[in-house]
Amino acid sequence: MGRWLNTVMRVVVTGSIATDHLMTFPGRFADSLMKEQLESVSLSFLATDLQVRRGGSAANTAFGMARLGLVPALVGAVGEDFEDYRSWLDRHGVDTHSVHVSDVHQTARFVCTTDNDGNQIATFYAGAMQDARLIELEPVADRLGGIGMLLISPNDPVAMTNHTQEARFRGIPFAADPSQQLSSMGGPEILDLLDGAAMLFSNEYESALIHERTGLTDDQILDRVPLRVTTLGAKGAIVRRAGEPPIEVGVVPERAKADPTGVGDAFRAGFVAGMAWGVGDERCAQIGSTLAAYVIETVGTQEYEFTPAEFTQRLAAAYGSAAGDDVAAHLTQG
Ligand SMILES: Nc1ncnc2c1ncn2[C@@H]1O[C@H](COP(=O)(O)OP(=O)(O)OP(=O)(O)O)[C@@H](O)[C@H]1O
Ligand SMILES: [Mg+2]
Repeated sequence: MGRWLNTVMRVVVTGSIATDHLMTFPGRFADSLMKEQLESVSLSFLATDLQVRRGGSAANTAFGMARLGLVPALVGAVGEDFEDYRSWLDRHGVDTHSVHVSDVHQTARFVCTTDNDGNQIATFYAGAMQDARLIELEPVADRLGGIGMLLISPNDPVAMTNHTQEARFRGIPFAADPSQQLSSMGGPEILDLLDGAAMLFSNEYESALIHERTGLTDDQILDRVPLRVTTLGAKGAIVRRAGEPPIEVGVVPERAKADPTGVGDAFRAGFVAGMAWGVGDERCAQIGSTLAAYVIETVGTQEYEFTPAEFTQRLAAAYGSAAGDDVAAHLTQG
C-alpha cells in the first residue's frame, strides 16, 4: 500500500454538501391523491415532525475522516446559508477553507416528507452545487502543499468531469466515487471518470450498472483502475487488485439499526483513512466497515461519536487483535 501516496498525505474530498429537511406526515398520501385529479395537483400535508440534518456525500465523508483524526479538505459549493454548517464541520476537524460560496444560490437541499405507509414525496434542490463546476483544484493543491489523494464523490455532473480532468492533467492521485450519479450517465461518461483513477468505489448495484453501461468485465475494469472496492451492504465489502486474489471483509455487527443513511460515505472515509495511514487493503476495508457500523446506529450521518479506544476495541472484536493493534497505532482522535 501507499505506493501512490505522499508520505504526508493531504486528503481532499470533493462532492455534494447539502442539508436534509425530513418531515413526517401522520396520514396516508394515498388518501389525498385522487386519480381523476392528477392533472392539477395542489396538495399540502400537515407534517408533525421536522428534522434538519447535515448531509451531502462529501461532507459526510470528510466528517468521518476527521473523526479518525485526519484533517481532510472539503471541496464543494454552498450558499451563504452555510455558516452554521461550516462551524459544525470546523469544530469537528474538517478543513473548510476551500469550500466555494455562491452569492446567488442556496446550499443544496433535500426536502422529504414520509407518510404512515413509509411512502415518500421528496425534492432535491441542487442550488449552489451547480457552482462546483467553477472550482479549480490548483489553488487547493497550492494551499495544502500538494494533494495526496482526491476523492471525486457525487456532485454536479460537470464538476465531477472537471475535477477528473484536472486531476488527470495535474497528476493528482484520485479515487472515482460516482455512486448515485451513475444512473444518469452513459458508458463514455463513466469511462471518462475512470480514466486515470487510482481506485474506484461503488456498491454492488452501481458495480453492475458500471458493467452494463460500459460493457467492460471485472478484469477489463481492473486493467484501467488498479484498485476496486465494492461494498455489499450487510454482506460486507470486496477489494480487488489486478493479478491478486480478491479480499473479502465482513461487516461489524450492528448494535442497533437507527438509520442506514450515510453508510457508504462512512465506509469510504474509513477506507481512505487507512490508506493515508499506509495500512493494507484488508485493514482499510475493516476500518471502513467499523465506521459504517457507527453510522447505522445513529440517526443522521454526522452524529456518531467514539473514543480511539472504543473504535479500536470494536474493530478488534470483529477482526482480531492484530487488526486492532494496527489501527491503534494511527488513530489519534475520536
Ligand atoms: N446491515 C449492516 N450491518 C453492518 N454493516 C453494514 C450493514 N450495511 C452496510 N454496512 C457497511 O457499510 C458498507 C457500505 O454499505 P452499502 O454497500 O450498503 O453502501 P451504499 O449502498 O453505498 O449505501 P448508501 O449509498 O445508502 O450510503 C458495507 O460495506 C458495510 O461495511
Ligand atoms: Mg452509496
